[in-house]
Amino acid sequence: MISRRSFMSGFSAVGASCLLAPHSRANSQLPFLRATASTAQLTPEGYPSTSVWAFSSDGAATIPGPEIRIKAGERVQRTLMNELPQSTAVHWHGIRIDNAMDGAAPLTQAPVETGATFDYDFVCPDPGTYWYHSHNRSREQVARGLAGSLIVEDVEPWLGLPGAATREITLVLDDWLLNEDGSIVEGRWDDLHAAAHAGRMGNTATVNGQSFPHFGLRPRERVRLRTINVATDRIMPISLPGLSPRLIALDGHPVTPRDVEIVELAPAQRADIVIDAPVSASTQIGLMLDTGRSNQVEMAAFQIEGEPVEVAQEPVRPLPSWKTLAAPDLSSAKMEPLRIEGGAMRGMDEAMYHGKTMGFRELTSHGMAWAFNGVAHGMDDPMFEASLGRTVLMELSNRSAFPHGIHVHGHHFTILTRNGLSDPNKDVRDTVLIGADEVVEIAFVADNPGKWMIHCHMLSHQASGMMGWFKVA
Ligand code: C2O
Ligand code: CU
Repeated sequence: MISRRSFMSGFSAVGASCLLAPHSRANSQLPFLRATASTAQLTPEGYPSTSVWAFSSDGAATIPGPEIRIKAGERVQRTLMNELPQSTAVHWHGIRIDNAMDGAAPLTQAPVETGATFDYDFVCPDPGTYWYHSHNRSREQVARGLAGSLIVEDVEPWLGLPGAATREITLVLDDWLLNEDGSIVEGRWDDLHAAAHAGRMGNTATVNGQSFPHFGLRPRERVRLRTINVATDRIMPISLPGLSPRLIALDGHPVTPRDVEIVELAPAQRADIVIDAPVSASTQIGLMLDTGRSNQVEMAAFQIEGEPVEVAQEPVRPLPSWKTLAAPDLSSAKMEPLRIEGGAMRGMDEAMYHGKTMGFRELTSHGMAWAFNGVAHGMDDPMFEASLGRTVLMELSNRSAFPHGIHVHGHHFTILTRNGLSDPNKDVRDTVLIGADEVVEIAFVADNPGKWMIHCHMLSHQASGMMGWFKVA
């Protein structure tokens, strides 16, 4: 899996050079979120540890970053302190946030320079499972570890009620590309070959920063899993054999509880899943990842231990519904097509890059391989403008040979149709996976003023052209 060449090229200067002198607090009153160099044991015990970039609040930086937990309607307040050798910014993925706090550098804020700070202070209106991550040079910075969970708890109780779970576990799922010595494979951040295909695929899977962790479950215990795919590029089809998984939320938003065999998580997507532990562990139970070509990797194990839980198994109780999201008005929607083109196998005839029309070859010489509506890296001008409160109906058509996970900042959208067929679930999400040749219609109320990015969350695709933005005013 790891060639001698990638092993050799792994040795470039990171590590010690990132360790800057500790900074004293300026005039800010907020708790810190430091972005800094650290080490983590991503591989099993006994294997070498990995130099990473990670977040911390007080102590050592961890992979994933410290879990931030608040209740819906409350504020997250953190002073980002950048102790990295590059500028950075933090995006609070899925939060319908004040635009100035969105962290989408350089669109919504200037990147935070090495040694500088930035105060993030915003309300989280909707309960659910979210995450935060670097949004500057994110293909590299997220791959180095700059991600953590952000859990917005319901104001209404759910845990402990009849049919609900009695506790919850956050599972941050990641995919790392490591050398044999445990170091992150470097010098491939601009790998256009990977970017024009499915992206940077790793060789080491972790759950909460650990290789193959074990979780104890009591017999018959009902638990809520909050799963988050923080990988840069890998789509994770996960399954939970022996645990009767039922889906209760997607991207934070509740769904009518439904049985699921496989949950396909695009990068950045989340799924909240209720599991019931069996009475005994005679069957194999675990968290399985399908890595393609009928390969299954066991990412985590569940162990049945302790006293059985004495409860009648009731149908799963739905989560309290959001009362904060406006319903799209399709009768007066603004129609916005989004044509996705490029990549290996199909390419594209031409696209605009920084105001100049170029053929595919010339685009690739600028590191571009993808375009939205014929524009690669469309950050100069907005794709469209919507007046505040207007419903936007977007037809996303994937003309490429690869799947994409398209993310809309600052809004959650309803999936209306797939390939012309009405979507039976009408799921509400912030990131949607679109297979090759698929056409998906989504709608949302543009009720959050500001400049909002739309991009592929396969971060290699984003960096090689799949991004743009729209304006709400
Ligand atoms: Cu997870 Cu542009 O973001
Ligand atoms: Cu993509």
